[in-house]
Amino acid sequence: MEFKSKIKTIEWNRAKNLSRMVDQLVIPYEYKLVDIKTSNEMFNAIKTMIVRGAPAIGIAGAHGMALAALEISQKTTKKDEFLKLLKEKAEFLKSARPTAVNLMWAVDKQYNLVKNASASVNEMVQMLIDNGIVLENEDIEINKKIGDNGAELVPKKGATILTHCNAGALATVGYGTALGVVRSAFAKDNTIQVFADETRPRQQGARITTFELVMDNIPVTLITDGMSGYFMNKGMIDMVVVGADRIAANGDTANKIGTYNLAIVANYHNVPFYIAAPLSTIDTSIETGKDIPIEERDHEEVTHINGKSICADGVKVINPGFDVTPHELIKGIITEKGVLYPPYNESIEKAFEM
Ligand code: MRU
Repeated sequence: MEFKSKIKTIEWNRAKNLSRMVDQLVIPYEYKLVDIKTSNEMFNAIKTMIVRGAPAIGIAGAHGMALAALEISQKTTKKDEFLKLLKEKAEFLKSARPTAVNLMWAVDKQYNLVKNASASVNEMVQMLIDNGIVLENEDIEINKKIGDNGAELVPKKGATILTHCNAGALATVGYGTALGVVRSAFAKDNTIQVFADETRPRQQGARITTFELVMDNIPVTLITDGMSGYFMNKGMIDMVVVGADRIAANGDTANKIGTYNLAIVANYHNVPFYIAAPLSTIDTSIETGKDIPIEERDHEEVTHINGKSICADGVKVINPGFDVTPHELIKGIITEKGVLYPPYNESIEKAFEM
């Protein structure tokens, strides 16, 4: 089945040597593309969330490295100097957002590609551009595999799948991880439906997930974050699938704030709770979720809605962008290499060997 949306969130433009991306700050009011022409602009696009979602910011990082290489090649043709300046830009790009490991994965992959290459500076620039495009195309293929693997887990015909935040086409290059599972499941059974958490404070569920699903004519019902227990208690949710920003070696998973609450509520009601993510989201250098850095975001995201304060002036605020769901609450991790089950230390290690 072909879906209408065909969203391509981020794409390298070879003719103009720039990165073109969907501006996610204006969805659902507008669907607009923006051109990112420099590595500094890319840093800002990631930081301000013009581009967001772990796999999408990974590709943004890869494109950012290609842009940085283009800039540096205007200043020097000496390889040592080029690599030194490129390394500095790599660290700068990685600092744009700390939790999604796909950003570090893609930027490091780009740097390592040229680090020891016997190539001229101009050849290295071309290698970084080409590899950015390879990673871009691979991302869609990986998501389709995740989607097909996850569709097998949908427990019944006409199931209701609950998701949190946006792990869809717009969080990746296309198709999506958690929403990839939904798309593949819907292609097999068009009576399934989705319940989407609004996802306070940035409303990725309300703004982006509903936008994507409505565009693809997949039935979606928007609920507020506190409603999941109510609907599970009524037996109205058959499965939860969410994305991930970083998965530790033991399966502990960082994802959008509120995911942990959802996992607890799902487990209490015996609703299977799955993570859908590519292997590039698994950080085997981190043993448990305790070591995952959690982004603290602007307090105005909590105190303001549409630019207007909704609370008493001077109130204290804490705004972590992500939380960590312990591995015991996760029934399976859906990857491009199949569904990983506990004990995750072992299944993750095996997946990387495949
Ligand atoms: O802050 P965001 O919008 O970048 O957070 C996105 C999420 O938490 C997604 O669930 C996660 O990145 C997985 S995207 C396939």
